[in-house]
Amino acid sequence: MKKPINAALALFFVAVIAIAQTPVRSQPGASRARPSAYPQRPPADPAALERGKALYGVQCNFCHGSDARGGEGGPNLLRSELVLNDKNGEAIAPVILNGRMDQGMPKFTMTMAQISDIAAYIHNFPVGGYDVSRMVPLSILVGDAKSGQTAFNSKCATCHSVTGDLKGISGKITDPKVLQNTFLMPGGGRRGPSSPVSVPPTTVTVTMPSGTKVEGRLLRVDDFVVTLVEADGTQITFRRDGDNPDVAIHDPVQPHIALLPTYTDKEIHDLTSYLVTLK
Ligand code: HEC
Ligand code: HEC
Repeated sequence: MKKPINAALALFFVAVIAIAQTPVRSQPGASRARPSAYPQRPPADPAALERGKALYGVQCNFCHGSDARGGEGGPNLLRSELVLNDKNGEAIAPVILNGRMDQGMPKFTMTMAQISDIAAYIHNFPVGGYDVSRMVPLSILVGDAKSGQTAFNSKCATCHSVTGDLKGISGKITDPKVLQNTFLMPGGGRRGPSSPVSVPPTTVTVTMPSGTKVEGRLLRVDDFVVTLVEADGTQITFRRDGDNPDVAIHDPVQPHIALLPTYTDKEIHDLTSYLVTLK
C-alpha cells in the first residue's frame, strides 16, 4: 500500500519542480518573478495596458498601491479571489461600478472598456513577484503644501474653513497618516480604533405614504428591507417596494466618499502636506 502513495508523491514533487522552473515573464520593478499557482494569462495588448495604467494611477493607486499589493486604505488586489477569477474586467466591474461604500471602496463611473483596461493592467502584475519599491519606507509628506492649498480651496472650502472648523487640525490629529485618513477614508475610522475622529453614524429617515416619518441609526438596507434603530434602542424593519416607503440615508462622511474618485494621487499628497501646516 505504501509504494503507490510514494510514487504519487514523487510525481507530485516532479510536477511542482517542473512548474517552479517554468520561466515567468519578468517585470520592471520585480527583482525576481516567482511562479505561482495563479492563472497564467495571455500577454495583454500594450495599448490597453497603457490606458489601464493611466486610469489605475489616477483612480486606484492610492488605496491599492502602485503594485496592486495594497496600500493606504485598500487591500491587496493580486491576492483577491475576485481578481484572480476575473478575465477582462467582468468580475471586478460590479465592485468598481457599485463600490462597497460602507467598506471604504468608492464607486466609479466608468465604461466596461475602461474597466477592461484596468483589469488588463492589474492582471499584468506578476502575482508572486517581489517589488523592490516596497523596501523603501513610505513617507506620506511628499506633497507640495502650496498646491495642497489650491486643492483645498477647490475641494474642501465649501464645507470647511482653515480659520474655522479645521483651525489647528494638525495639533488635534498629529499623525499625518491619520490626518490623511480623516478626509480620505473617514469610514475607516468606524472600523478601527486608529482614528481619533469620531465619525457620527449613518442615519436614515423612512417616510411612509401617510407622511409619518421614522428616524434612526441605519442598521441594514437593501432593495427589499431597511432596518433602523430608534434613539430609544427600538429596532424596526420596513419592507421596501420601490419608493414606498421613501428611504433617505444620511451618511455624515458621504461628502468625503463622494470626493474620493475625484482626487489624483498627487492631490492627496499635496492636501496632506497642506493640512499638516494647519497647526
Ligand atoms: C479610497 C480607497 C479606494 C480606492 C480609491 C479604490 N479602492 Fe478598491 N477597495 C477599497 C477597499 C477598502 C476595498 C475592500 C472592500 C471590502 O472590504 O469589501 C476595495 C476592494 C476592491 C476590490 C474587491 C477586492 C475583493 O477581493 O473583493 C476590487 C476589485 C477593487 N477594490 C478595485 C479597485 C479599482 C480597480 C479601483 C480604481 C478604479 C479602486 N478599487 C479604487 C478601497 C479603494
Ligand atoms: C460637502 C461637505 C464636505 C466637503 C466638501 C469636505 N468635507 Fe470634510 N467633513 C465634512 C463633514 C460632514 C465632516 C464630519 C464632521 C463631523 O464629524 O461631524 C467632515 C470632517 C472632516 C475632518 C475631521 C474634522 C475634525 O474636526 O475631526 C477633516 C480633517 C476633513 N473633513 C477634511 C476635509 C478635506 C481635506 C476636504 C477636501 C479634500 C473635505 N474635508 C471636504 C464635510 C465635508
